[in-house]
Amino acid sequence: MRRPAFHKLMAVIAALLGTAVIGLAQEDVFDFIPVGGRTLLENLRAEGMPADLEGGIGSQGGDAEAWRARLEAAGAEAPSLEALDAWQTDTLAYYLAANAPLASGVDLPRDGRDMALALCQSCHIITVVVTQERTREAWLRTMNGPSHVEIATTPAEREALADYLVINAGIPIDQIPPELRAGGASY
Ligand code: HEC
Repeated sequence: MRRPAFHKLMAVIAALLGTAVIGLAQEDVFDFIPVGGRTLLENLRAEGMPADLEGGIGSQGGDAEAWRARLEAAGAEAPSLEALDAWQTDTLAYYLAANAPLASGVDLPRDGRDMALALCQSCHIITVVVTQERTREAWLRTMNGPSHVEIATTPAEREALADYLVINAGIPIDQIPPELRAGGASY
């Protein structure tokens, strides 16, 4: 009498624990993919941006080189900017090159990570994308090729996604969560 009841109880506990673990895993499973320019900018704003730089973001354009120089110059007075790794500064510089000047008070445009998560998982897992180390030209060739040309992006968004991936993809397989490693491609 007691044994079946005990087993049933254990099964219920195991099921509850399993659900909790899966819930946590789903929340965090993409954390290994580096944040993009939108998140970097939001985090910097939350920590307090130098007024000159914020003014520039609202009024100036420029290529990634120009933005990198502005970010580095502003870093002298902003510890949160100085604390960025070189590839994060680059990621933000390319994001600003693609999107600035940015009107204040509107939602920030999606960044490369946002696009990869939203657009690159319906036919194969994200691993196919984020483990590849490629040039910008090679990324654009893939995205403009027959398997990908239908994906809803503007040419400018493809370029912004390519820039993000040049800097942030090429993630070694041992940094990919196990559940995203095998059997991912369904094509
Ligand atoms: C509509 C389905 C579909 C979507 C959505 C999709 N892919 Fe693919 N992808 C494929 C197919 C099919 C292949 C294998 C055939 C090929 O390589 O073209 C592939 C293969 C790949 C490869 C490896 C082969 C190669 O071309 O080098 C990469 C990298 C890739 N996709 C990147 C992306 C990125 C980046 C996105 C999001 C912008 C994306 N995919 C979204 C269908 C898709």
